[in-house]
Amino acid sequence: MTNIGEYSQKVLDHFRNPRNVGTIDNADGVGTVGNPTCGDLMTMYIKVNPETKVVEDMKFQTFGCGAAIASSSMMTEIAQGRTIDEATRITKTDIVEALDGLPPVKIHCSVLATEALHAALQDYVERQKSNVPDAAPAPGTASA
Ligand code: FES
Repeated sequence: MTNIGEYSQKVLDHFRNPRNVGTIDNADGVGTVGNPTCGDLMTMYIKVNPETKVVEDMKFQTFGCGAAIASSSMMTEIAQGRTIDEATRITKTDIVEALDGLPPVKIHCSVLATEALHAALQDYVERQKSNVPDAAPAPGTASA
């Protein structure tokens, strides 16, 4: 039998008591990713302060393994309070370290959480682009 390693207390804690589970109705960004090999699915929702660009709220829904749930939960704790730029720089290593490690075969679960966050951030950026108001007509171009 293959030894897949032990889970840290932090992984077990976040798996048993996941933080920030749920959805945000009027989210500013939503990202859904899946891993075709294991079939796990993850969706992350972010609410961003329009002035400070800080991620003020974050929720997740994960249909997946315990490590995926723990990684999602930890991701919401790490990303909240960071600006969009800072959140973009969060890596799987940040998640793994914050969880005090994951067994090697479960590292991809932290990758999924990182991809879900980045998808939500990307969605936020795209929405901001499409929300830019049309440029005002150049002076003198309005009909009299
Ligand atoms: Fe695939 Fe955990 S086994 S995300």
